[in-house]
Amino acid sequence: MGELRRRRVIVDEGRCVECDFCKTVNVCRSPDQCIGCLSCFYACPYEARIIIEEEVEERLIKITVDGVEYNVPDGISVKEALQRIGVEFKPPGSRGLTAPCNLGGCWACAVLINGELERTCINPVRDGMKISLNIDEVEPLRIVHGPEPHRVGGKATPWFEVDGYGYVESAIWVAGCNLRCPQCQNYYVTYDNSGKPLTPREAAERLTECRSIYNTPGIAVSGGEPTLNRRWLIELFRNLREMNPKTRLHLDSNGTILTEDYVDELVEAGCNNIGVEPKAGRLDTYMTITGINDRSLAEKYFTNSWKILEYLVERYSDKVYIGAGFAYNSEWMSFEEVAEIGDKVAAIDPRLQVTVLDYFPTFRRRYIKRPSVDEMLKVKKILEERGLKTVIVQTRIGHIGPGDRSA
Ligand code: FES
Repeated sequence: MGELRRRRVIVDEGRCVECDFCKTVNVCRSPDQCIGCLSCFYACPYEARIIIEEEVEERLIKITVDGVEYNVPDGISVKEALQRIGVEFKPPGSRGLTAPCNLGGCWACAVLINGELERTCINPVRDGMKISLNIDEVEPLRIVHGPEPHRVGGKATPWFEVDGYGYVESAIWVAGCNLRCPQCQNYYVTYDNSGKPLTPREAAERLTECRSIYNTPGIAVSGGEPTLNRRWLIELFRNLREMNPKTRLHLDSNGTILTEDYVDELVEAGCNNIGVEPKAGRLDTYMTITGINDRSLAEKYFTNSWKILEYLVERYSDKVYIGAGFAYNSEWMSFEEVAEIGDKVAAIDPRLQVTVLDYFPTFRRRYIKRPSVDEMLKVKKILEERGLKTVIVQTRIGHIGPGDRSA
């Protein structure tokens, strides 16, 4: 027995507006004792959670991992307990056990806990817990929103398929993200850790049914960040391809953790439409948009997004329809930077489809103003002056560009 320094999260009552996000969307799995997982800290739309540190008396409990008994402190997450006994969580995007979101949405950190697949990042370790790390034969899970038919699609939806009248894609949005964008445009999905998870087959069946009801030429997987749970995503695309031999299968990703072999595996599984979102032209802007304050991590993500875009264009232009996405708001991006983005994309391929989103106020950045239509048209003009041939800008009156799309 000894003293331990522990991270805890408490509610800042002065900021809490009782929106109930923490009761209905991002729900604590250990309400009797905070385990310092930080999921609620990142999820609260009103930033009404504070991290504190306190000394606690160390109390050891017993757990069994793959038949071997260990003593670990109580009051911590299963993930932390596993790390303490030497279990390795691999880098995000790898095959095997990873923990890329730490929010409870992606299920990439799940192992068998007392016989059930469960997430290690947000669940507390308990005395007598029996854990199995051997999950190769267990179907992976992930929290899914949708499917719903979509008239507009995403940054990589081929512009020539959008007519503004019919549905162009059947889409799902998956929970969990490795970014912490303060203006997250889809935060009810991103921070959802309480929705019922689906297997890849269940998600593929629902998407296929949606596609056949609405007769959409495409099926899309967006988020959150879909790439966080590799096994789930690859199996989803395999199932989708088997059920929909001729359909365009679209992955909408931030591109931060995609590697060349991951992209190869996705294409092999049947994915033939990929959107990557480097979001910005400069690292500082990227950090502002994504909320990643650790400069070296932000640089890694930012560089990777641009690199994987290049790889996709070089290697798969003939097989995969590719799109790039950027996030404009004068709050963080100048027109000079827009021109730099134009130059960077033109150096990769001036014909590449580029979609610039007019980020609107939501989540924690409710004070920003949505860019005007004129501003977005100026962004479009600048990019076209840098030689880009396929520029689409999102505006409050719809997407403007080739194949203008109503919102
Ligand atoms: S890392 Fe645990 S659910 Fe994403």
